[in-house]
Amino acid sequence: MEPAATKRREGKKSLRVKVISLGNAEVGKSCIIKRYCEKRFVPKYLATIGIDYGVTKVQVRDREIKVNIFDMAGHPFFYEVRNEFYKDSQGVLLVYDVGLRESFEALDSWLTEMKQEMGSTANMDSIVFTVCANKVDLSKRRVVDEGEGRLWAESRGFNYFETSAQSGEGINEMFQSFFSSIVDTCENGGKRPVAESTAGFTKEQADTIRRIRTSKDSWDMLGVKPGATREEVNKAYRKLAVLLHPDKCVAPGSEDAFKAVVNARTNLLKNIK
Ligand code: GTP
Ligand code: MG
Repeated sequence: MEPAATKRREGKKSLRVKVISLGNAEVGKSCIIKRYCEKRFVPKYLATIGIDYGVTKVQVRDREIKVNIFDMAGHPFFYEVRNEFYKDSQGVLLVYDVGLRESFEALDSWLTEMKQEMGSTANMDSIVFTVCANKVDLSKRRVVDEGEGRLWAESRGFNYFETSAQSGEGINEMFQSFFSSIVDTCENGGKRPVAESTAGFTKEQADTIRRIRTSKDSWDMLGVKPGATREEVNKAYRKLAVLLHPDKCVAPGSEDAFKAVVNARTNLLKNIK
């Protein structure tokens, strides 16, 4: 056994970590970082050219962390510059603008770009991802609600925060939790600890809710072909009802999804002889 004094010294060892920001152009990546590091907000849009680099020191529990922040440009034009910087990241801020649906829907392609650049040997499970639903101060133009954003994030084991670089809402809490998850991961031998909030629902439930929200009609919602029989509709309904029943499913949005499925079944059965 090691002497307690050695352990205490090790516990205080400083850490160097690398984090990157990802997300479409103009969603607020640079402003989120500026709000945290410089405590100010710049209303004028100054597009990041390729990449911005900065260093900050933070304290997490008994450790001093030196954070190297690589703030990526979201514009597709800068892909060639960005792709150099994915490797060795320990934390990723995935940012979207709650007033722009396409910026939310682009999160998957940002993950794809990252995976591609990191290569097949990279272990995504050792990276902490935090999703920032940004610009929540502009509540009137909001089109992606909290449930939808949270579901996307938590079903992947990512942290989720509502933020505003303009008002400062959620920024400190988000960074505190982000850095502390990175330290947890380092202390856990490089494996991301399972986020508490992901407990209680499965990826299948989360994906199904997302599919239901974006389905184009009642057939699509139940996952049956147009013209399906009563039996086929009922069979599909029963499967979804078991998966999404509010008594069994605690995923955000499950109640609405369940109601939508009940309505879809009723609509379809009305028109099937
Ligand atoms: P790229 O560098 O091009 O990838 O963009 P970015 O994601 O870094 O966006 P940036 O931080 O430069 O912000 C884009 C615009 O959105 C600027 O005009 C900001 O002032 C504005 N903005 C950023 N965050 C917020 C926010 O939380 N609320 C409001 N109202 N505006 C914001
Ligand atoms: Mg920027």
